[in-house]
Amino acid sequence: MPENPTNQDVAAYYDALNEWGPSDDFYLDLALSADAVLDVGCGTGVVLHAARAAGHAGRLVGLDPDPDMLARARGRDGVEWVAGDLGGVTFDGEFDLVLMTGHVFQVFLTDDEVREQFAAVRRALRPGGRYAFETRNPGARAWERWTPENGADVVGERGERVRVEHHVESVEDGLVRLSETYSCPDWAEPKVERGTLRFTTAEQVEALLAETGFEVAERYGWWDRSPLTATSREVITIARPGPRPATGRR
Ligand SMILES: C[S@@+](CC[C@H](N)C(=O)[O-])C[C@H]1O[C@@H](n2cnc3c(N)ncnc32)[C@H](O)[C@@H]1O
Repeated sequence: MPENPTNQDVAAYYDALNEWGPSDDFYLDLALSADAVLDVGCGTGVVLHAARAAGHAGRLVGLDPDPDMLARARGRDGVEWVAGDLGGVTFDGEFDLVLMTGHVFQVFLTDDEVREQFAAVRRALRPGGRYAFETRNPGARAWERWTPENGADVVGERGERVRVEHHVESVEDGLVRLSETYSCPDWAEPKVERGTLRFTTAEQVEALLAETGFEVAERYGWWDRSPLTATSREVITIARPGPRPATGRR
């Protein structure tokens, strides 16, 4: 009997679509060098789980608001999995490292939303802690490659063959509205997820960090730590809390 697509949990395909790669190696190295780590938007929890498996002996906390993603993470033991986002939980000076991997940063669509996230991350960090995250560099125009022809095929846990395609609906003022369509011959109809991602320049990221009391300690354009250029695919930032911001924003 065809599965009802409205019940289809697309988180089931996340790990198959996002296999372990150089970004995971980069964040795993950082996690292994820190005592207490918070992963904001941890998704299926791959990085923290790998840290524990590699012998990390300290506190590992994964936070995510999506129940389907978190259910997948909860299948991995050895980590504290927390449902929600930084607006709904308060961590106070508890972590040496906060991660935001897999372009989570791009879900925050306005400067105010980003400032709120940065302020909450700063509060969660111990003095001398680090905040590592990446955003796709607008100069590399990734959205131009998000076309149906560049879709991917995955095989699900029950052997179902699923095609995943992206369609960009609009690009305006750094905001890319897109849909992600999951289709399978066994399903009566496809499952469509819609969303918006913000593309922010390195200069904008740095200014927002400075406003919220961070200093950029390291910046790269790719996971091998090569320098950022105008067309690097990523803007990878490791920030440290600096002096308190003059604006009074935390
Ligand atoms: C592309 S996935 C990345 C997952 C994981 N970090 C990784 O690298 O594979 C984006 C994740 O961000 C989460 N997310 C969405 N809005 C969020 C928010 N406001 N705060 C924290 N996480 C959020 C989603 O639930 C999703 O799991």
